Amino acid sequence: MKKTFLMTAFACALLSACSNSDKLIYKDANAPIEDRVEDLLGRMTLEEKIYQISQQCLGENDNINNNEGMNPVPLNPMIGSVIFMSEDIQVRNAFQKKAMEETRLGIPVIYGYDVIHGYRTVYPIPLAMACSWDPSLLEACTKVAAQEARQAGVDWVFAPMIDVAHDARWGRIAEGSGEDPYTAAQFAVAAVKGFQGDNLASYKQVASCLKHFVGYGASEAGRDYVYSEISDQTLWDTYLPPYETAVKAGAQTLMSAFNDISGVPASANSYTMNTVLRDMWGFDGFIVSDWGAVEQLVNQGNAANPAEAAVNALTAGVDMDMTDGVYIKNMEQLVADKKLDMKVIDEAVRRVLRVKFRLGLFENPYTPDVQEKDRILLASSKETALKAAEETMVLLKNTNSILPLEGVKRIALIGPMVKNLHDLLGSWLGHGHDEDVTTIQEAMDAAFPEATINYAQGCDFEGDDKAGFSEAVRAANASEVVVLCLGEKQAWSGENASRSTILLPQIQRDLLEAVAKTGKPVVLVLNNGRPLELSGMEPYTAAILEAWQPGISGGTPIAKVLNGSVNPSGKLCATFPYTSGQIPIYYNRRNPARPATQGFYQDVTVEPMYAFGYGLSYTTFEYGTLKLSAEKVAQNGKLKAEISVKNTGKRAGKETVHWYITDPACKITRPMKELRYFEKAELQPGETKVFTWEIDVQKDFSYVDSKGNHFVEPGDILVKVGDQEVKVVVE
Ligand code: GLC
Repeated sequence: MKKTFLMTAFACALLSACSNSDKLIYKDANAPIEDRVEDLLGRMTLEEKIYQISQQCLGENDNINNNEGMNPVPLNPMIGSVIFMSEDIQVRNAFQKKAMEETRLGIPVIYGYDVIHGYRTVYPIPLAMACSWDPSLLEACTKVAAQEARQAGVDWVFAPMIDVAHDARWGRIAEGSGEDPYTAAQFAVAAVKGFQGDNLASYKQVASCLKHFVGYGASEAGRDYVYSEISDQTLWDTYLPPYETAVKAGAQTLMSAFNDISGVPASANSYTMNTVLRDMWGFDGFIVSDWGAVEQLVNQGNAANPAEAAVNALTAGVDMDMTDGVYIKNMEQLVADKKLDMKVIDEAVRRVLRVKFRLGLFENPYTPDVQEKDRILLASSKETALKAAEETMVLLKNTNSILPLEGVKRIALIGPMVKNLHDLLGSWLGHGHDEDVTTIQEAMDAAFPEATINYAQGCDFEGDDKAGFSEAVRAANASEVVVLCLGEKQAWSGENASRSTILLPQIQRDLLEAVAKTGKPVVLVLNNGRPLELSGMEPYTAAILEAWQPGISGGTPIAKVLNGSVNPSGKLCATFPYTSGQIPIYYNRRNPARPATQGFYQDVTVEPMYAFGYGLSYTTFEYGTLKLSAEKVAQNGKLKAEISVKNTGKRAGKETVHWYITDPACKITRPMKELRYFEKAELQPGETKVFTWEIDVQKDFSYVDSKGNHFVEPGDILVKVGDQEVKVVVE
């Protein structure tokens, strides 16, 4: 490196001499961004370029799954980006000052961080947010996250995670929007809008990062960092759609995934990153690898050594190397050995610089030192998070309308989740603090001021200690109803959190059985980061509320549902299997050859426990007749579908209408049904609303082939809502 250093010093002297005369266009805020990019690129040495497309860490590592990969090379202010793990603005500004004043060209660092569902105002996990069926709630929450993050020194968030997932054993199902490509696409766009807004240079917006590109949700057997068998057809009809939609909505970056896509790892996959993303979709931002994913190409058998991994990743489209230092350690030699073309490096640098200019980092490299109380956990921010949490609650069972608990005077409040703070935040909790969370106990005390609440923990999340059962049984016997709060620890889902079964631990299921044996009705409340196997628990319950991991709102939305001040309106965005053995099970499966008579399990049903789109309300809704505005439509035509919905109950409620299509015969077989539109609305008691879907045949009826060509085939299409379907003929 010494010889290089001397060469660099000489080059600097030469450059600065000949560049003294010309204007530094890259410093001219009024110059077009592309001119600034080219001007700056033309001034950079090879070493400066290599550091620019590398990322390291700044602050104390808070990522338990990646604690060995911190800064394998000394942190240098020429670095292009850091993962900024500190909450201290001064830490950011001090390092940025080094970059701006102690390097030759003064290129600002871009500060990234995992703001997956909130920076400090942690809102529900993304899997829960999708169960709200209201993308505008996610947009509002990500807007808050962007403001808190940017004003805390984070310019770029590694979110939204938009991986479609069919396997609840995979811990990362918690981070996405469930099993349906269309749903994932709608929520991805909402997140990009909330994070990026319409002015990336503002101190209230951040660059987003679509991840993990692509197909990570197909990880074999729900394990993490593994092989994923994905045909080109499945790549296009299942895993790419959310990315295509969100890239076209303006996402500035993507993150390449850990998984191996049918023999070509995602982080060395030129087809997905160059052909699809850039050539077909015109993406002009940059791709960062996942943590160490470049070096891991050696483990995956794609590269013989880190130097080869660097070549494979960069030429396939990975513009920035996250934390393993492989680009820094190998690229100068690779260029010297003519194993890497400068043009490929230059293009990667261009993309990184382009996003930095768009973020306004050259004009405003430092984060203003605003007091924490004026930018963090604002009352309006917490209200936004709470409103979202209320809409994510999914009522799965409500025998004899035992809920809401009106007029109940004695409640047993039992379970390991009742006083819990940390686990209600969920995985990827950003800078969420336990003390910001409202416990279920606090919330229940507030929601039922007249009731006597008999608390008992009963048991821990796992283990075999039943010593607390007797106290729990006493609490149940002393009460009219049991509210039993069970679920998962926050580390049981998220990254590196695969489970071989989606059953809750035996001890929790035994506690349910013990309190149920008292004969008191049990309202089971669940806080978890994945669909669970509930078939063995359900018979012991009178009601089940799936409350997910609600973030700092914690017990408040739960208590408000239980006392009836909130009418639950969530519906599942991921199937709850009847047993773990059914996995993978998802609503948009393709038709079997013998649908009605054979091909079933010999030991269990083929039906799920709770289906995609399922969720109950405290009121009832009656659907009218589904109508289409035409019986025939041209391939480039439009038509309207409509259905009336009446609130036939005694209280206001929100209903989501899911519009599906089926194509019973197509050159490429299509799922038995496909969600293509949804709308949620509140209806007052007795109110009827006509829900309409303005159908554009090319957009809404089309399918995609294994080359990414969207097509519409003439023939029958069935438009479906609930158990109704109406045929239209595409001519
Ligand atoms: C992790 C995750 C990724 C995250 C990144 C930075 O390993 O896979 O989702 O954004 O590293 O923390």
